[in-house]
Amino acid sequence: MVSAYIKYLLRSGNEHAIHSPFLFELYTKVISGVKDDNPDYIDLKALRKELLASQREIEILDLGAGSRVNKSNVRKIRTIAKNAEKPEKFGKLFYRLIKRLQPKNIIELGTSLGLTTLYMSRAKKDASIISFEGCPQTAQIARENFDKTGAKNIEIVVGNIDDTLPARLEGLSDGIDYAYFDANHRYEPTVRYFEQCLPYATNDTLFIFDDIYWSDEMTQAWEYIKAHPQVTITVDLFWIGLVFFRKEQVKENFTLRF
Ligand SMILES: C[S@@+](CC[C@H](N)C(=O)[O-])C[C@H]1O[C@@H](n2cnc3c(N)ncnc32)[C@H](O)[C@@H]1O
Repeated sequence: MVSAYIKYLLRSGNEHAIHSPFLFELYTKVISGVKDDNPDYIDLKALRKELLASQREIEILDLGAGSRVNKSNVRKIRTIAKNAEKPEKFGKLFYRLIKRLQPKNIIELGTSLGLTTLYMSRAKKDASIISFEGCPQTAQIARENFDKTGAKNIEIVVGNIDDTLPARLEGLSDGIDYAYFDANHRYEPTVRYFEQCLPYATNDTLFIFDDIYWSDEMTQAWEYIKAHPQVTITVDLFWIGLVFFRKEQVKENFTLRF
């Protein structure tokens, strides 16, 4: 990842690299260099601190690519909070993206302890969020976190996403306006989940892929997604990749500083 990061730093640009007015506005007002001290974050910050200190142990059922730092299936909450949760910076970015794009139907693959889910939930309390998690005990902690913070718009679907995603998608009456893919960090499942969600994407949908340089497989999956004919604009922020389907845009792949 170090060499991938150096390459990213060398090729990434800022707002001067953007010709699309839509992306220019999104980048300068939502993505980069935004001072963001929203009071909505205060208790989520406190919850993160609490989880980072928690000695409570749970049994992990790992249905994904696994942890690089922990091979045991009994894990402290603090270890999960440190290694699996996306840092606050991304929670805030997702909050701002949701405030700006106003998606009604949101899905998240990979709930973990639910911290990122909570930033998304806070940004649009009347949105419906379906979050998928394979580990029952992790999902239980997420549920407790949703109750503690008064989140009412999140449904957790527990089980292997290989099975639960197609089943839950079938029951969707509306499309997907916003999807965050952060579960099984391998090529085949990432591409499969992307293709299963594609028929539900509209012109205004945003898909976000996590850890696009985590492994060669994830980088290959990112290349596949960028090249897909239905995808128009992509934005590589190194840690995550944004994918848009806006037909009015010329296909272009951006690499931007975050
Ligand atoms: C990196 S964590 C998600 C972090 C979370 N989105 C956040 O930002 O805080 C990945 C989660 O995906 C779950 N997962 C991985 N593969 C899965 C699968 N095939 N089915 C269901 N859940 C899976 C893991 O149990 C883990 O909790």
